[in-house]
Amino acid sequence: MFTKTIIAFCALFSAAFCYAEVEKLDLDIFNYEDVVKNDEATIVKMRKSLLEKGIAGIRGVPGYKEAAAKFIETAKAFSMLDEATKNQYAPNRHAGEFLGYEIGAEKFKRPDGSWVVDDAKASYYFFVPDKAENVWPKEVDLQKDANAITSIMFSVGCDFFRKVDLVKSGCYLPLDKFYGVARMLHYRKQSDVTMNNPYWCGAHFDHGLFTALMPAFYFVNGEQVSEPEEAGLFVRTGDKEFLKVDANDPDVMLFQVGEFGQLATNDDIRATEHRVHKARGGIERYTLAVFFDPPMDTVIHSNSVLAEDSRYGAKPGEGCSFIQWHLSSLKRYLVD
Ligand SMILES: [Fe+2]
Repeated sequence: MFTKTIIAFCALFSAAFCYAEVEKLDLDIFNYEDVVKNDEATIVKMRKSLLEKGIAGIRGVPGYKEAAAKFIETAKAFSMLDEATKNQYAPNRHAGEFLGYEIGAEKFKRPDGSWVVDDAKASYYFFVPDKAENVWPKEVDLQKDANAITSIMFSVGCDFFRKVDLVKSGCYLPLDKFYGVARMLHYRKQSDVTMNNPYWCGAHFDHGLFTALMPAFYFVNGEQVSEPEEAGLFVRTGDKEFLKVDANDPDVMLFQVGEFGQLATNDDIRATEHRVHKARGGIERYTLAVFFDPPMDTVIHSNSVLAEDSRYGAKPGEGCSFIQWHLSSLKRYLVD
């Protein structure tokens, strides 16, 4: 079921990283045309992928690849601004703000139980569709290119969730009122010292309904390179090992299940635990995620195994609002 590749690299580095074995997820990628025409076999397979793997891809969305490439160029231009300029667009987290530029605001638990701050991960947050509250830089026209790509991802994502029609077996969700929170991500290049923490982003679950993801773009000194074997998105479902998501094709849009999606469908789909492994050799990584959420006052009555988590704030089968789940999830991962 899974393909295995053995890679030998990094003779100069520690033994722990030598001859590392990268096990890959057998990612299911569906043709956009088959999804659009409601091909029955495709829809059945999509549901199965979301249940068993928690992630799936769609290839060939018109205009997507071009809009993604344009966005990444603009994201790079923003990232190259000096830190003081970028910090003009930083939110005041203590005042409950989150839109705009941010670096190193999340912490994740390592296998030994210690918490590590992801200090090499810069983000830029904005609502999708664009709202007056969004904060946009003056130096670079991020707004235009960000809106172009995220409007494609948002519309395909809403259609994707409607097509798999999972909500009928779970809790009521107002599909026509979904909104997106987009996050441009820039994972900075690493030195041997910073490689002590091998993850650009530690293991976690997205806590919303689901997430649309652009495959990552990698650069060395501004020149694009292919994804290094050791780096990128790794996922796991259940208690299996983390597997690499080999999604180098810029024409693929990924969909990953979030915890509220699992809750709302009573485990008909499964949230994916995931992390991002760092690259060596001065390589930077850029990507974009769009988190799909229901309105904050949406209440579900879930019998999912996740309803036993303390963040649910009630017993399984009782009501839990999205704002309850959202705020208690943020509390778990945000640096004080
Ligand atoms: Fe995530």
